[in-house]
Amino acid sequence: MSNKIIAEGAEARISFFILNKQKYILKERISKTYRVKELDDIILLRRLKSEVKILNLVKLANVCCPIVYYSDGNKILMEYLPFCESKSIVNGKPNILKKIAQDIVKLHRNNIIHGDLTLCNILFDKKNNVPYFIDFGLSFISTKTEDKAMDLEVLREIIIADFSEKIWKVFEKEYAKYNPEIIKHMEKIQKRKKYLS
Ligand SMILES: Nc1ncnc2c1ncn2[C@@H]1O[C@H](COP(=O)(O)OP(=O)(O)O)[C@@H](O)[C@H]1O
Ligand SMILES: [Mg+2]
Repeated sequence: MSNKIIAEGAEARISFFILNKQKYILKERISKTYRVKELDDIILLRRLKSEVKILNLVKLANVCCPIVYYSDGNKILMEYLPFCESKSIVNGKPNILKKIAQDIVKLHRNNIIHGDLTLCNILFDKKNNVPYFIDFGLSFISTKTEDKAMDLEVLREIIIADFSEKIWKVFEKEYAKYNPEIIKHMEKIQKRKKYLS
C-alpha cells in the first residue's frame, strides 16, 4: 500500500493511497489542541456525520461528488477523483464556470449550502465537462435566500481576488438565469459589508 499526504490544513489531513490497484482518499479530521478533548471529539464527530450525510444529499440532487466507502469518528474513506482543481483551469477556460453555476443552482434548489465554495473545492473533469464538488465539512441545509447568497458571496470574493470581475460575471450571468433573486440578494449583502467596513 502506498500512502501520500496531499493536503494538510487546520481542520483536516487528506491522504491518497492505493489498495488492490484501487485509488482512495482518506480525510482525517484533526483535533484542535486549544479545545477540551471531550468537546473536540463531539465537534469532530458531528462535523463528520454532517459531511457524510450531505455528500449523500448531493448525489440525490444529481450533482457529482466523491462516493463515501466508509466513515467513523474522525475519518472518511472516499473515492479518489482524478481531476484538477477548477482554480488551475478557469483562466484558460472560463466557460467551466457555466457548468459550475448550473450545479450550484441544483445544490441551492435542494437547499444544500456548501459553506466553503472555493475553486479548490470544485474539481473539474475536463474530458466530460463535469464539475465534482468536495469538502462539505462546513455545509448545512437551509431554505434561506440569505444563506444561498452568502454561499455565492464567498465564491465571488475569491474569484475576484484570484482572477477578475470579468471571470466572476461568467458565473453570475449563468446562475442568474435560474435564480435571479439570489444574485439580487447578493447586492444587499455587499451594501451591508460596505456599511460595516
Ligand atoms: N476525493 C478527492 N479526490 C481527489 N482529490 C481530492 C479529494 N478530496 C480532496 N482532494 C484534494 O485535497 C484538497 C484538500 O481537500 P479538502 O477536502 O478540500 O480539505 P481541506 O480544504 O479542508 O484541507 C482538495 O482541494 C483536493 O485538491
Ligand atoms: Mg478544501
